[in-house]
Amino acid sequence: MIQVLFVCLGNICRSPMAEAIFKQKINDLQWHEKVKSDSAGTSRYHIGSQPDPRTLETLLQHTIPFRHKARQAVSSDVVHFQYILAMDKQNLADLKQILRPVPEHLYLMRDFDPKAKGADVPDPYFGGQDGFEDVYQLLQRSIDGFIDFLKKRHPAL
Ligand code: 4NP
Repeated sequence: MIQVLFVCLGNICRSPMAEAIFKQKINDLQWHEKVKSDSAGTSRYHIGSQPDPRTLETLLQHTIPFRHKARQAVSSDVVHFQYILAMDKQNLADLKQILRPVPEHLYLMRDFDPKAKGADVPDPYFGGQDGFEDVYQLLQRSIDGFIDFLKKRHPAL
């Protein structure tokens, strides 16, 4: 079983959107028995909350139904998830304070974006609906790139 964790600050905007897009692709590939995913935040701000209404609206516009309750990343996530993908560099730095032991490999979501390798997924929280659509588009690309990476890493998938 391969386990993937998407991480942002609040776990209500970017990482739940990444999880929803990833899960849809995993289902389409019929990998759902072999690849599981979750998302978490580095902060306590929104623990227990549903995704931001603007995240749900963008997902709905792309016909991706999704349910999630925000949680904070915990030290032991490193035991359960082989792939931990942070949305931006601050999330990555914060994860290094949370996870014990600090894993050898932490990834940035946009390490897999062919158009802007290693860039941050911009935080759309203080903007409008358009920013959420922009995040959706770059997550689509990045997640396709990540899935190609998984195919190479795990040829038996
Ligand atoms: P996320 O967005 O990290 O993509 O879930 C944010 C959510 C909440 C806040 C900031 C960013 N906040 O400051 O409460």
